[in-house]
Amino acid sequence: MSDSPVALVTGGGSGIGAAVARQLLGAGYRVAVTGRSEERLRGFAAELGEPEGLLAIAGDTAEYAQVCGAVEATVAAFGRLDTVVANAGFASPGARSLVDGDTDGWAEMVLTNVLGPALLIRASVDALKATRGRIVLVGSVAGFVHSPGNLYGATKWAVTGLAESTRLAVAEFGIGVTLIAPGRVETPFWDGLGGVPEGRLLTADQIADSVVWAVRQPDGVDVNTVIVRPLGQLI
Ligand SMILES: NC(=O)c1ccc[n+]([C@@H]2O[C@H](COP(=O)([O-])OP(=O)(O)OC[C@H]3O[C@@H](n4cnc5c(N)ncnc54)[C@H](OP(=O)(O)O)[C@@H]3O)[C@@H](O)[C@H]2O)c1
Repeated sequence: MSDSPVALVTGGGSGIGAAVARQLLGAGYRVAVTGRSEERLRGFAAELGEPEGLLAIAGDTAEYAQVCGAVEATVAAFGRLDTVVANAGFASPGARSLVDGDTDGWAEMVLTNVLGPALLIRASVDALKATRGRIVLVGSVAGFVHSPGNLYGATKWAVTGLAESTRLAVAEFGIGVTLIAPGRVETPFWDGLGGVPEGRLLTADQIADSVVWAVRQPDGVDVNTVIVRPLGQLI
């Protein structure tokens, strides 16, 4: 157990992040999960039966001191860090329209979705150099296609760019970088957006499958970009 790999998943108390955490625990990883709501994290840990290899750390991924604290707490508890998954993110309801959307939540969304992954990379890169580890960014199909006036989409275009820019910067340290870009997934993401859209959706586990597959590649294999849509999602 003490030599098993260690992952830190932001936004790991629900949806895709929780599915990734659960699957990594199942694969023998020790896993730290973060999120702003302590209650949500406690609920997730209780649902899993408080496993020994799970560490829940409340914190905001857009606050550098809190991100550094989460990385430090993970390394202090588990002794190493092999994988970080920058998953925390959301769409504020008004961010769907630059023309007439309510701007409440825009700043928080941009900071969470764009600054958050950058801060996580900055805070964890030294620990990842030590393990020749992996960075996973959860972007979106919305970071590959254009839709009219969508600020959320613009944050995910930024994540697409950040992934490649990070890959170019950290390959020399033996660190791999994977961008996972999901199409529509059934998670609490949709709760504040009027509910899940019509048509087929992926499950969180179906996206987690790709994350786990990417991070468990053999040494020397670096999966860079994975786009996964539910069949029938055209854009
Ligand atoms: N669901 C989809 O259809 C879909 C499609 C493409 C991409 N994505 C992306 O997938 C990622 C995960 O979303 P999800 O679908 O799994 O939705 P979710 O269940 O709402 O998960 C988002 C998680 O992020 C956490 N979070 C939000 N803001 C945070 C912050 N500032 N600091 C720390 N944690 C924060 C939330 O917990 P707290 O609120 O407690 O902080 C929550 O646990 C997001 O980046 C989202 O943009 C989702």
